Amino acid sequence: MLEVLNHPLITHKLTQMRKQETGTKDFRENLDEIAELMAYEVCRDLPVNPVDIVTPVAPTVGYELAREVVIVPILRAGIGLLDGIRRLVPTAKVGFIGLYRDEKTLEPHEYFAKFPKNLDEAVVMVVDPMLATGGSAVAALDMIKKRGAKNIKLVCLVGVPEGVKAVQKAHPDVDIYLAAMDDHLNENGYIVPGLGDAGDRIFGTK
Ligand code: PRP
Ligand code: URA
Repeated sequence: MLEVLNHPLITHKLTQMRKQETGTKDFRENLDEIAELMAYEVCRDLPVNPVDIVTPVAPTVGYELAREVVIVPILRAGIGLLDGIRRLVPTAKVGFIGLYRDEKTLEPHEYFAKFPKNLDEAVVMVVDPMLATGGSAVAALDMIKKRGAKNIKLVCLVGVPEGVKAVQKAHPDVDIYLAAMDDHLNENGYIVPGLGDAGDRIFGTK
């Protein structure tokens, strides 16, 4: 399943992020706000359990989330989506995957992994602003599946058809959510038109 969340608020904020003159503070704030808006849509099908409760007026049946949610940002840039999603799902646990993309080969390299227990029973959201070749997302999904994750959503800001195809081929069971589907990758593996290097723009490292 691929869902591109075309929403005027998301598109407006993403447009601010794309502009080359947007500085670190505004880039980060817009990403944080988009993450919250995306989380609302991504959580639409979370399973719920009925619970008997008593309001000040009467007994009734309410519904509570049936599964733990685990958010797994891919370092570094995925961190930019974490707080916005956690505002909507404050009980979510958080795992981390450290990957960097070799600038020449574009191959992902793992440098860190830390997860909460019971990934097999949770809804796991792997989050990263950029889905370019798809190499990092495929590697991250491999890593969490090895630890038992079964119910997985990949949440990215900007993707391209190449990256989506790579993930769908390697992990056809994973639902993919994007804020925008861009046109193509350039010769350096950057998304066009994209927004540049997400990690550098979030953390001000260039
Ligand atoms: C970026 C981005 C993704 C990856 C996408 O991270 O945040 O993780 O590239 O590219 P791919 O789909 O071709 O694998 P990068 O490796 O630049 O690391 P950073 O987040 O530390 O900047
Ligand atoms: N990673 C980024 O940060 N930006 C791109 O355009 C591609 C990969």
